Amino acid sequence: MGLSRKDILDIDSLSVDEIQTILDTADGLKEINSRPIKKVPTLRGKTVILFFHEPSTRTRTSFDIAAKRLSADSISISASTSSMVKGETLIDTAKNLEAMSPDIIVLRHASSGAPYLLAKTLSASIINAGDGMHAHPTQALLDMMTVREEKGRLEGLRIAIIGDIAHSRVARSNVAGFTKMGAEVCLAGPPTMIPYGVDTLGAHVTYDMDEAIEGADVVMTLRIQRERQKSFLFPTEREYAKRYGLTPDRLKHIPPDALIMHPGPINRGVEIAPEIADGPYSVILDQVANGVALRMSLLYLLGGGVRNADDH
Ligand code: CP
Repeated sequence: MGLSRKDILDIDSLSVDEIQTILDTADGLKEINSRPIKKVPTLRGKTVILFFHEPSTRTRTSFDIAAKRLSADSISISASTSSMVKGETLIDTAKNLEAMSPDIIVLRHASSGAPYLLAKTLSASIINAGDGMHAHPTQALLDMMTVREEKGRLEGLRIAIIGDIAHSRVARSNVAGFTKMGAEVCLAGPPTMIPYGVDTLGAHVTYDMDEAIEGADVVMTLRIQRERQKSFLFPTEREYAKRYGLTPDRLKHIPPDALIMHPGPINRGVEIAPEIADGPYSVILDQVANGVALRMSLLYLLGGGVRNADDH
């Protein structure tokens, strides 16, 4: 079964059934990544362009690996090495890329809404790989995949998301995704990093980290996004770590089977203590591993891939 949509732009527009299809497909494709020969012919002849206007390690690499494991041809371009530095607009650049007949364009852009503009203009499928402070749907989907894999369900779980909520597209997409799938989400951070009106997203909001993590099944910490802040919104990193950092002391108050998550990149010793990031409750690298399978799922479902018996 595929998805009857052209683009993946946000979580809000996905139905519960579509999210389940994406996660189930990712679960099925994940096994390919542990084979000696990690490649199937499913998307042979398809072309995927990775168009990244902001730095990325995990998202860009995992989309590239995902495309290659499905035998699609993937091409990566960034703003700094494209003719955008000579003044070409985003839309002109995108139209020129489309003239080369790609099937899917994966876009990361600093401006919220940029992927919607491309989706409206181009006939290629557009996947939002993060737009400004707005949405990061593929991160939320891989986070849901990881939690479902570990906990066996999403419904009824308590998810605490801690940190710079105001500037976090990951937080917005995760609130949309987890609440849609029947989990409860609690957001916590300093008042300067909690945006006005965030309670309308359907999450409980508090400035008290200890209240947020009490009884949580999942604790997700977020990086302070200095690149999106006009001024530092907390006196010092040390003070931030004391009030909102996940420390061994705080871990004592979390249920022993709670999952510790982080979308990365991590600032060790600020939002999360190194021994917790590397500790037994951390699924941070499982999130990264699942990112490949989840992105394979999206490319497969949007790219109209056909799985043959010998793909298995
Ligand atoms: N989580 C995430 O989007 O990481 P990258 O910025 O490295 O892609």
